[in-house]
Amino acid sequence: MAARGGFSSRLGFVLAAAGSAVGLGNIWKFPYETGENGGAAFLLIYILCTFLICYPIMVGEIAIGRRAQSDAYGSYKLLGGKSWGFLGLFGILCGVMILSFYNVVAGWAFGYFLEISFGDLLETPSFGDFFGTYVADVSDNLIFSLGFMLITAFIVAKGVKGGIEKASKIMMPMLFIILLVLIGYSLTLPNAMDGVKFYLLPDFSELNLETIYSAVGQAFFSLSLGLGGLITYGSYVEKNQNITQSATMITFMDIAVAFLAGLLIFPLVFSQGQEPAQGPGLVFIVLPGIFQAMGPILGKVIGGGFFLLLCFAALTSTISLLEIPVAYIVDQKKVARKWAVWGMALLVFLIGLPSMLSQGAVAAFSSLPFYGGKSTLDFVAEVFSDIGLPLGGFLMSIFIAHRWKLAALTDEIAQGNESYRGSFMNKYINFVISYIAPVALGLFFLVILAEKIFGFSF
Ligand code: PHE
Repeated sequence: MAARGGFSSRLGFVLAAAGSAVGLGNIWKFPYETGENGGAAFLLIYILCTFLICYPIMVGEIAIGRRAQSDAYGSYKLLGGKSWGFLGLFGILCGVMILSFYNVVAGWAFGYFLEISFGDLLETPSFGDFFGTYVADVSDNLIFSLGFMLITAFIVAKGVKGGIEKASKIMMPMLFIILLVLIGYSLTLPNAMDGVKFYLLPDFSELNLETIYSAVGQAFFSLSLGLGGLITYGSYVEKNQNITQSATMITFMDIAVAFLAGLLIFPLVFSQGQEPAQGPGLVFIVLPGIFQAMGPILGKVIGGGFFLLLCFAALTSTISLLEIPVAYIVDQKKVARKWAVWGMALLVFLIGLPSMLSQGAVAAFSSLPFYGGKSTLDFVAEVFSDIGLPLGGFLMSIFIAHRWKLAALTDEIAQGNESYRGSFMNKYINFVISYIAPVALGLFFLVILAEKIFGFSF
């Protein structure tokens, strides 16, 4: 273990894993998905999906990593044989591809933070136009997303304890503090309560298959599941730690931040009489208008604070995404950590260029003919995240139930949690992994196949 590095304490692991989970998914994606999918009803399905499917999958992933003490590929190979190693490789591929576009969006947040706090972004006459020009601008994007990748690599190069754990221990508490201060302000605005109502009173007439599809994808993405990220982090966890308890804390922190992000954003949106269903631009187009209305000084403080929050959240996630392929190279190819980190960061940055240039900079990337004219960034996100992650979770549940076996899973979890064996939690996790996850996710894929490939509509 010493040679591979490891977390120094349970708190270190929990904060790093929660840092991985809490990210753009919570503060950028969750509010706009909720806004587009009818508010409270989406929130409810997302929470249900988290407990009925995702929590046991999270426990399973951490247990696989801790048992095998290896990266995603090495762990599946060690516990399941060479052919299962492919599932690990698929996860690593998803990690690389997700990081490649995630870093682009993180670069936007980084640019917005700098330009609101230290520039004159808030003097812009139209934030919609500004955002459109901004994401299509090559030089800004290159600088900010390269900057973000360099900061990520710098931290990951410092190792599990000195880099990942330390950064998370500083950034996660700060994130909560900034979030709470901003919410305190947003709830005092006129009409804030209309936003709270939209967010918390469910309207089930808005519910359809698309809502469920989005909620499942969102839950996997937000909890960083299905790609071996938690196998990787789990491999750095001590045997005496209680996995189910840690997973509970990680899940609650993730839900809490998504929930709080909604509680911050919808009152802001409604206080300005804006529409909640704005799509991916919600945070970048609607919010700056609101910060502008606060006046030049308060706008800079609150607006800058918000985008700084977004950067912190994104950074603890990019760190975990980069660690997935890095752990693979260090463990399997015996490359020194430093080289693995900088080489991988450069490679992922290059892979991300088409996504970066797909927001108007290069027409061929911006409108893919085989993908209904949507952008490369949308394409990569849909294939490797919306579909790839639930697929990874589906195959992992089959791996545990039929190859590694539930008894082995129970043995691993029981280390550090003596009362686990035979408990309600034990039965619940086994039941979800053997039945609910494979059946529900299997149905999910049949529906997607029918819709996306054969053109059925439900
Ligand atoms: N969970 C992160 C977020 O919500 C994204 C992520 C996905 C990070 C997969 C790591 C692995 O932003």
